[in-house]
Parts: sequence; structure tokens; C-alpha cells
Amino acid sequence: MQIFLDTANVEEIKEAVSWGCVSGATTNPKIMSYEKPGYSFEEKIKKIIQIVKNPVSVEVTAEDFEGMVNEAEEYASWDENIVIKIPMGKEGLKAVNILEKEGIKTNVTAIMAVNQAILAALSGASYASIFYGRVCDLGYDAFEVIKKTTELFRLHQVPTKIIVGSIRTLLDINRAFLAGADIVTVPFKFLKMMTENLQTEATVKEFNNVWKEMRETGAIRLEPKERVFSTPLRKVPFGSEPQGRRQDVVQKTQHPKHSRTSLSFVKK
Ligand code: E4P
Repeated sequence: MQIFLDTANVEEIKEAVSWGCVSGATTNPKIMSYEKPGYSFEEKIKKIIQIVKNPVSVEVTAEDFEGMVNEAEEYASWDENIVIKIPMGKEGLKAVNILEKEGIKTNVTAIMAVNQAILAALSGASYASIFYGRVCDLGYDAFEVIKKTTELFRLHQVPTKIIVGSIRTLLDINRAFLAGADIVTVPFKFLKMMTENLQTEATVKEFNNVWKEMRETGAIRLEPKERVFSTPLRKVPFGSEPQGRRQDVVQKTQHPKHSRTSLSFVKK
């Protein structure tokens, strides 16, 4: 089970990758059009690759197989993590067949039906992208399309990984995974929404208010101690006093990396 990010926005990618739950990214010509105009395509893709350090899908726009192969070979030469998105169709399948034999990974895109996914797999594609929202737009049940495809692939031990894109709601993400998708590629807006829940926020606030009260009334005492963290991100001692004492603790040590807190509960 993996999540990819369905965006070309560097700031969104940086933020999402820092959460540690993103294993790749996907782009397409429309996604590229959301970026501030006038940028270099190659530079943008290279920047994304540098941040993601995992598979990044880049789509070809040629409509004949020779053109697709030429475009694909150029993009693939930019970095080994580039996966070439090839539109489903006769020309696309020919291109996939050639590219995979050359060792270039492909992602057959815009798949709306099980039979298209079967062809993508048989042509040797590394990934097959089923478009959840667009399948539903056609009046079909995307859940069933994904479920049947994943069942078939597992039954026949097909190595092609199923990516589900065209996500329109949070429920689409859950249902895509429940149907057996290997990967769901998610726009940043939805990834952010996945972290949020009003009841979670209210619960954390409630717990922190109790903690604050315990500290203010002296029901609990925190004693900062020396501690070395490997990450340079935490520059203040964990659990030390909110004001003043943090600085004191850092300044007191020769190697002021961090400090640890031991907890003493005061019996009433
Ligand atoms: C991902 O690989 C697709 O290109 C993308 O999710 C398509 O989304 P859309 O149907 O919203 O254009």
C-alpha cells in the first residue's frame, strides 16, 4: 500500500514528502498547466525527482508510437526514477512493449476498464493507472473495476502495479485501497485533508489543556536532563519549560544538542 502525490507543485511535494508517507509522484500535461507559466519542463521534473527520490511519472504527448518512444527516451535519460506515462491505446501499447524491453519503466495511463488493464499488463507495463473519478463520470463503478483488475492480477501473479488516480473525494482513496490498489495517487489537497479530523483536534486540545493545568497547579514537575538527539531539527529540549528554561538548559551544556525530561508526579 503506497501513496503517490498527484501534483507538480514543488512546495506541495516538499511538504508532503516531509511527512514520510509519500512514495512517489505522478504528473500529466494538465497537472503541469497548473504551475506558474514560463518554467522549464526539464528543470521542474528534475527538481521534483530531487525531492521525491522515488518514482515520478512523466507523460508523453506524442500520439504515434515512434514519437512516444523518442519522447520517453529523452525523459528517461534525465533520471533513473523517471517512469514514462503512456496513454492507453494501440500506439501506446507498442511504445510500452519497446520501452520496457529497453529497461525504461512505463505507466499506462487513462485506463477506464478491466480489459484495458489486462492489455497494459500483457504489454509489460510496470504500472497501470485506473482513473477513479473519470470511470465514475462514465456511470460505472470504479471500485468494481479496480477490484476485478487486482483480483485478476493476483490470480495470475501479474507484476504490473495498479495505481489509482483521478481522485475526487477522500472516500475514493479509501475505496481504491479497499478494492486492492497497490498505489493511490492523491492531489495534495486531499492528502492534507487525510490528516485532519475535528474530533482528533478537539481530543488533542482537551489532553493538552489537562497537561497545562497539571503543570500550572504543580501537580506534575518536569526535570530537563541532558540528551543527544540524532536529528538537527529539534533545537529545544523536549518537555522543558515553555519560556526561559529551554534556553537555560541549552546554554548550560558544552554540546547543547538536546535534553531529556524525566517526569515526577507529585502526590496530592
Ligand atoms: C494520475 O495519474 C492522473 O493523471 C490524474 O489523477 C488524473 O486526474 P483527473 O481525472 O482529475 O484529471
